[in-house]
Amino acid sequence: MEIARTRAELDALTGPARAQGMIIGYVPTMGALHDGHLSLVRMAREEADLVGVSVFVNPTQFAPHEDFDAYPRQEEHDLSLLEREGAAFVFLPSRDELYADGYESAVAPGPAAEGLESDFRPHFFGGVVNVVYRLFSAVRPDIAVFGEKDFQQLQVIKEMVAAQGLPIRIAGGPIVRDAHGLALSSRNAYLSPEELRVARTLNQVLYDAASSIRNGEAPDYVCAGAAQSLVDHGFASVDYVAERWDRVLAAAWLGKTRLIDNVPAI
Ligand code: PAF
Repeated sequence: MEIARTRAELDALTGPARAQGMIIGYVPTMGALHDGHLSLVRMAREEADLVGVSVFVNPTQFAPHEDFDAYPRQEEHDLSLLEREGAAFVFLPSRDELYADGYESAVAPGPAAEGLESDFRPHFFGGVVNVVYRLFSAVRPDIAVFGEKDFQQLQVIKEMVAAQGLPIRIAGGPIVRDAHGLALSSRNAYLSPEELRVARTLNQVLYDAASSIRNGEAPDYVCAGAAQSLVDHGFASVDYVAERWDRVLAAAWLGKTRLIDNVPAI
């Protein structure tokens, strides 16, 4: 497994493969890797000849009061997991490498970014589309795989790629859950044992809501009930429970940790 820290090093790794007509697969991450990320690498390997992963904790998608400084960083461990998973290269850019021209935005998020996450993290998708655009222009993949846990993010990226006319196929990887149904997330590491117990009720509340919607109950009514149910189970507060893209999506807080999840509604 090769490591590239600059665009020039990356080009030296991917150029010959591209020249030979190999399909390049790519999984962008912020590190603190878990089985969810590794499942995306596996998916990419099924569809591509050469798979690369980037690890970059992107400052522009965190608001000043959010957990950028505390975000878990474990480079050595991440690299050993990726080596075992058969990644061919890892891109580890510095801030200056990726934002050599400063933080000026090149692209804007489209309509999929409206509502849900944007109501509570208005800076988020602007930061995401710009870093992903920059990462794509550095890696130049044929296929990129994103986790469905960030379902709205996946829609926003698909829109951005279509709007910019980028020749990249975007694939969504299914959510990976623990034995209790909790969606794997780097932020689960913040949870106390009691918070973890409560966190594990989130998926069940969403599955119940999805089943009520399938049985013909009004989505708005069901989602309001699900939000109340999360509070009853011990969540400190709920940013949203909503139905969109045939999914029931939620964001809720446990202490200082914000969890998101979604399940199919059809
Ligand atoms: O989903 C993530 O980990 C991040 O939002 C991403 C896509 C790597 C951009 O920083």
